[in-house]
This record gives sequence, C-alpha cells and structure tokens, in this order.
Amino acid sequence: MKNQLKIRLLTLIGAGLLSLSLSLHSALANPDSPGGKKIALIGAEPGIPSCSACHGATGAGQLSAGIPRLAGLTAPYILAQLEHFRHGTRENALMTPFAKKLNTTQMQAVAEYYASLPVPRPSGANPPVDQQLRKQITMGSSLAENGLSQSAMPACAACHGEAGLGVGTFSPDIAGQSAAYIADQLHEWKANDRRDPLGAFMRAEALHLSPSDIKAVAAYFASLPGASTAKGATK
Ligand code: HEC
Ligand code: HEC
Repeated sequence: MKNQLKIRLLTLIGAGLLSLSLSLHSALANPDSPGGKKIALIGAEPGIPSCSACHGATGAGQLSAGIPRLAGLTAPYILAQLEHFRHGTRENALMTPFAKKLNTTQMQAVAEYYASLPVPRPSGANPPVDQQLRKQITMGSSLAENGLSQSAMPACAACHGEAGLGVGTFSPDIAGQSAAYIADQLHEWKANDRRDPLGAFMRAEALHLSPSDIKAVAAYFASLPGASTAKGATK
C-alpha cells in the first residue's frame, strides 16, 4: 500500500520532470558527455531513465516525496547501495529495476559523478516549524547526541558525526536529508532490511527506536543545514 502510494505520487512527479529531462537530453546528447553525467541527466539504453527524473537535476532529491539527495554522498557508498538494490539486499520498488539494468561500469561512473557534485539545498519545502515539530527536533537532537542510555544505544553522532555530515566512506552524510526518507530507512531496518555488512550497524540501532523516536531523529537530521559547497569539492 505504501509503495503503491509512492508510485502514484512519483508518476505525477515523473510526468513533470520528463519535460525537464527531455530538454536536458537535447542539450547534452553528444558522444563526448562523460558517462556518469550522461546517465544521470539523460539515462542510458536499454530502458534506464535519467536519475535526475527523480533525484533532481542537481542530485538534491525531493524532500516531500522521500527521494534522497545523492549529490555529495561518497562514490563507494553510492556504488554499494546500487549493488544492494541490484542483488536484492536492499529493496525498493522504484530503484531496484534501474539498478538491475546498470552494469558495473555504469554504476561506477554515475557514483563518481554524484560524489563530485556540490551539496545542494534539497528541493521542496520542509514543513513549517510549529510547536510539535520543534519538540520533535529537540528530542531528536538529544537522541542523536546522547543515544539511549537505558538500552546502551550509541549516539547517532558517534558514527554520523556531530553535524550529521558522515564519516569518510563508512557512514553517510544525513544532514539536511529528507525526513520522510530518513524515517523510511529506519523503519525498514527495524523490519530487517539488510544492506550488509555495514547495514548491520543500523539494524542494531533501529531496533531500539520507537516510532516516535524515529519521527524525532528524522526531523532533527532533516533540520540540519548540511554540508557547505566546499565539502563536495573535497570528495
Ligand atoms: C523513479 C524514480 C527514481 C529514479 C529514476 C532513480 N531513483 Fe534512485 N531512488 C529512488 C527512490 C524512491 C529511492 C529511495 C529508496 C529507498 O527508500 O530505499 C532512491 C534511492 C537511491 C539511492 C540510495 C541513496 C542513499 O542515500 O542510500 C541511490 C544510490 C540511487 N537511488 C541512485 C540512483 C541512480 C544512479 C539512478 C539513475 C540510474 C536513480 N537512482 C534513478 C527513486 C529513483
Ligand atoms: C555504529 C555506527 C552507527 C550509528 C551509531 C548510527 N549509524 Fe546510521 N549508518 C551507519 C552506517 C555504517 C550506515 C551505512 C549503511 C550502509 O552502507 O548501507 C548508516 C546509514 C544511515 C542512514 C541511511 C542513509 C542513506 O542515505 O540511506 C540513516 C538514515 C541513518 N544511518 C540514520 C542514523 C540515525 C538516525 C542514527 C541514530 C539513531 C544512526 N544512524 C546511528 C552507522 C551508524
């Protein structure tokens, strides 16, 4: 049901973005385009749509649709996720079919392309910060910085860094990522999504989180400003 809803929503978004993607197609369709950029903005044969149709022309993702930002994630992380989708160790009705169509060279190229991009502000508006959201952000910030002492759950900051910017190629940058996307991932880990070997760290973490804890940490990380453009340049 959740996936059906997402698909309907994304069909709508896809229709709007198709025209953008088509105009980029005519602007960029030349044989000299570097492979990764071409896949990202134009797509590839057979039947691989442009990644930008969903992840946005700058790789910013879409907050409200729960589509993650790819720009500025590390290439090894992006590549690992594409492999997880391809092998079924990570499942998603929208991503799995595309990942299955990309070969390893294409995956590497597109991963390097997104890793090289500056980190943009996510597109779409975060909800207005009302009293309830402010409470969630405060609670999320405490979980992120202190963890849960009663269940010895480590602080998110222990692995994702104080500002949520991730640590090297080990744990990804989640600052300013879509709250809907972060919450989805935590629920999926609770329900035993795998992404091994590194997903094991998150599975252990998510098992301690209640639905309201998940709302809170997702709201907190989404509220963080995210990396500066300079960070993208250092990757
Ligand atoms: C029809 C929409 C759509 C298209 C087209 C699409 N994606 Fe995605 N992508 C998604 C959604 C939705 C997710 C979130 C999946 C989840 O919740 O697990 C995602 C997740 C990802 C992730 C995981 C990011 C993370 O932070 O873990 C990567 C990597 C990715 N996509 C790469 C690509 C690449 C590369 C392409 C182009 C070849 C592409 N996507 C095309 C919808 C799309
Ligand atoms: C012990 C280390 C560790 C701790 C503690 C930890 N994480 Fe993670 N997290 C990781 C690793 C490693 C990954 C990457 C998993 C993969 O490669 O599939 C990850 C991935 C994620 C992702 C997926 C990002 C994406 O782009 O798909 C989210 C969301 C996330 N963590 C949120 C959290 C939150 C919220 C907390 C605190 C409640 C937390 N993490 C605590 C190590 C950790």
